[in-house]
Amino acid sequence: MSGNDSINGNKVGQMRPEDIVVEVNNVWKIFGKDPQQVLNSDIKSSSKEEILEKTGCVLAMKDISFKVNRGEVFVIMGLSGSGKSTLIRCILRLIEPTTGSILIHGKDICQFKRRQLDYLRTHTTAMVFQHFGLFPHRTVIDNVAYGLQIRGMSRKKRHARAEEVIKKVGLKGWEKYYPGSLSGGMQQRVGIARALATDPEILLLDEPFGGLDPLIRRQMQDELFDIQAEFKKTILFVTHDLHGATRLGNRIALMRNGEIIQIGTPQELITEPKDEYVRRFVQDAILAKVLTASSIMSQPGVTLYEWHKPDQALQMLAAKEADHAFVVDRSGKFLGLLNAQNLSEQRRGQSVIGAMEKITNTCTPESSVESLFPLAAASKHPIPVVDEDGKLLEQVETSAIFNSMIRRTEEEKGAGVS
Ligand SMILES: Nc1ncnc2c1ncn2[C@@H]1O[C@H](COP(=O)(O)OP(=O)(O)OP(=O)(O)O)[C@@H](O)[C@H]1O
Ligand SMILES: [Mg+2]
Repeated sequence: MSGNDSINGNKVGQMRPEDIVVEVNNVWKIFGKDPQQVLNSDIKSSSKEEILEKTGCVLAMKDISFKVNRGEVFVIMGLSGSGKSTLIRCILRLIEPTTGSILIHGKDICQFKRRQLDYLRTHTTAMVFQHFGLFPHRTVIDNVAYGLQIRGMSRKKRHARAEEVIKKVGLKGWEKYYPGSLSGGMQQRVGIARALATDPEILLLDEPFGGLDPLIRRQMQDELFDIQAEFKKTILFVTHDLHGATRLGNRIALMRNGEIIQIGTPQELITEPKDEYVRRFVQDAILAKVLTASSIMSQPGVTLYEWHKPDQALQMLAAKEADHAFVVDRSGKFLGLLNAQNLSEQRRGQSVIGAMEKITNTCTPESSVESLFPLAAASKHPIPVVDEDGKLLEQVETSAIFNSMIRRTEEEKGAGVS
């Protein structure tokens, strides 16, 4: 996956309309006897508790709107009961929204007839349910192959494909068992395998790793990460796991009592929380995992070309009172580091290359600050920030890494957050 806030090099929010895969507009879901009555009266703007008390209806989704772009991992988080499952189920109309529209590739699925809905559920999308949703009377392999069977694939072919995916989720050998004889975590993995088997364009994952122990969760996350890197699916991902979310998600929508309180990149939610709820929700996030080099990088002091002569280089260093410089080739590709001492020892050389120290501890703008710690510890000089082609962009100074951590700690103290 590329960085947290960009997809195919585009900043989220600046995508073209044709790249929008899912669009949810002003969707409400009210459970109860007379949802329309709630919707048509002023009480709808009251709190969830008040609505329940006065009308007996449960406000599960309140005026939800957002867009998900092609190839994006859109994470939905929030406390239990905040409306996450309701939201994700509405996208397949497993729950009917009370009002609002849900567009997939620009078509309002709320208007879909039976056949269109079936197609949506079996071809375009696949869902992993929070509570497994497996067929108890089908074996593991037939559960996993279910979507392919619906598509009319032969038994031999669909079993071959199912076996492949079962192996991926670590359940080889369990093909002939029934879900009832599997542990919760194993059933969850069958659910994941079933969703992956059909290779859908859109994946809807409701707490897919919820029942898994940490080691397997990590393994499944890695699997999802690889799938995403290779196939760039569009994924709506409900999770309680903030670290998993920050690792996998491009953007996070944080829900409370049926409303989306804030949508943003993990970094935005952590550095610019909209209110105390968001701040408290994300305060456990390890900042160093979420912040990236791009937020703390700065212009390099002195940059030299490989053809510069040592004398010229020394003059340039002296002019800027610098003790080191980065060296690049004609195309701007990063080559290495020069320090003033080596340079003066070799001042008679033809070019600076002879005095240059080759260093490999570069990073990219997307590198997490956490990944910079060992690089910073291994060198006295700033870390060069390069692009995919190795071209020098900027640098990260060791002091910037530590300052970013200290600033945050002080902010927290100031706000009285322990
Ligand atoms: N069929 C239903 N009838 C009445 N109320 C419902 C129904 N389904 C969900 N709710 C209510 O809607 C609200 C949102 O529920 P939902 O299951 O979407 O929450 P969630 O965010 O997925 O929670 P969790 O993290 O526990 O899975 C809750 O208050 C729940 O009680
Ligand atoms: Mg749920």
